[in-house]
Amino acid sequence: MRNRSASAIAAAAVAAGFLACKRPSAVGSIPAGRSLYHANGCAACHGLAGRGDGPAARGAVVRPRDFSNRRDFRFGHTLEDIVRTLKTGIPASGMPTYSYLTSDERGDLAVFIVSLADSAKAERNP
Ligand code: HEC
Repeated sequence: MRNRSASAIAAAAVAAGFLACKRPSAVGSIPAGRSLYHANGCAACHGLAGRGDGPAARGAVVRPRDFSNRRDFRFGHTLEDIVRTLKTGIPASGMPTYSYLTSDERGDLAVFIVSLADSAKAERNP
């Protein structure tokens, strides 16, 4: 039996390692994402708390996304989707491309964006 549980632990460790490689959350850091959010001017459009209400949102033809509800995301709301959106930008909307950031930086930003949605959700359903 000892062998069996040891191999189960080994399998879990392999799975965890696999996930760690696959998912940006494993490398993403919320504090780093928050700094990047401010350093790259995201708040000007998306607002300090990510509610889509930054000063540059006023009068914008396409409203910057409110990050408080991930179901409202138009281009996918998984970490991978957000990383991709940051890399490509959204043509003709005002949402710039952040292809000049490293993929780790885009991962940090994505983890931060998801954390905004998760904390807004927790506020709605305490
Ligand atoms: C000049 C204004 C502006 C800036 C600066 C800006 N955005 Fe946006 N962003 C937008 C607009 C407008 C949209 C909505 C586009 C649409 O709906 O077609 C958007 C959409 C998004 C989306 C897509 C959500 C979805 O619906 O799938 C993400 C993610 C995002 N922004 C993240 C960021 C991050 C992170 C930064 C900073 C690194 C940033 N944005 C900077 C204007 C901006």
